[in-house]
Amino acid sequence: MRVADAFLAAHGRAPEGVWHAPGRVNLIGEHTDYNDGFVLPFALPWGVSAAVARRDDGVVAIRSLQAPDEAYTLTDLDRAEGWVRYAAGVVWALRDAGHDVGGADIVLDGDVPRGAGLSSSAALEVSVAVALDELYGLGLDRMTLARLAQRAENEFVGMPCGIMDQAASALSAEGHALFLDCRSLGHRNVPLDVSAAGYTFMIIDTGVHHELADGQYARRRQDCENAAKRLGVAALRDVTDLAAALARLTGDERKRVQHVVTENHRVEATVGLLRAGAVAEVGALLNASHLSLRDQFEVSSPELDVAVEAAVRGGARGARMTGGGFGGSAIALVPADRVDGVRDEVSRAYREREFAAPRFLPAVPSPGARRLA
Ligand code: GLA
Repeated sequence: MRVADAFLAAHGRAPEGVWHAPGRVNLIGEHTDYNDGFVLPFALPWGVSAAVARRDDGVVAIRSLQAPDEAYTLTDLDRAEGWVRYAAGVVWALRDAGHDVGGADIVLDGDVPRGAGLSSSAALEVSVAVALDELYGLGLDRMTLARLAQRAENEFVGMPCGIMDQAASALSAEGHALFLDCRSLGHRNVPLDVSAAGYTFMIIDTGVHHELADGQYARRRQDCENAAKRLGVAALRDVTDLAAALARLTGDERKRVQHVVTENHRVEATVGLLRAGAVAEVGALLNASHLSLRDQFEVSSPELDVAVEAAVRGGARGARMTGGGFGGSAIALVPADRVDGVRDEVSRAYREREFAAPRFLPAVPSPGARRLA
């Protein structure tokens, strides 16, 4: 395995094991996780592999095949910079929670398309978390590891993300989506065999890099928290009478609530349709989710809007932006015999608007984090 070979070359010994954690795409349930709501992501075939061995001097050495010129040997985790903070942050979070985690040599190899909003950072965090959990015999369950990875990102990296990405990476199952209640953290793997129904999921990577930490994400979170406070509920998840809530709000807060409350219903409806085997009907919910994210939550972008509209024109049953927004990717539910048509229509629309060419990736529901060797 390439990452094990690289480990041997760097450290003069074999790793104790190799662990893999996937990136994710979210089928539906956007900007609901930090409102204690519902999400329905699934793991992708791409991820991060971590070759790891313990060290007895407490030092954490981190390198990546994607950044061969940078190798960090950290006695002080806080000296980590850039992408290294995602890995160092996991060690910090484990230790801060009182777990006896010593040093480690860590070599990473990742293939999640960068900047596509497919959670390469969660994949990195979770790969390191599952490796250290096993090597140091911590015996933590997957949800606990996901929460520690989220804490690393919130407090060590400084990105106020919810739990969705780390949970999807840690807990997904092949051929399934992960239905997660972000309040109770209860979860179920929902069968997602759309190919049997003649469909395929297509990811359209707009190629526009999104910077979630640029403040917009945090501002949306703040809008939601302000609205919840005004409505006297712990989180927007608790809004049961939408009309009454909207009547008490104005401006941005009103729009944010409209999105979050209806999006939670769309997630539950999607799960119900999938269970009923009504795959095609999910398309309408994807379209509605996109309009809500565009008009009420205001996190779409021209590239995402054009991708979604063109995908549907080209024959997709439905499409929506996926992930935090402001660029990144869209996901489309496409009849197997319309894949070329959708691709052509989106490419044509992009040329017409003089956008850089998008990338098309097949999204196959893949296994969650696991040990490879
Ligand atoms: C990003 C965050 C997630 C979630 C989505 C929006 O991906 O990391 O926690 O909030 O945005 O649904």
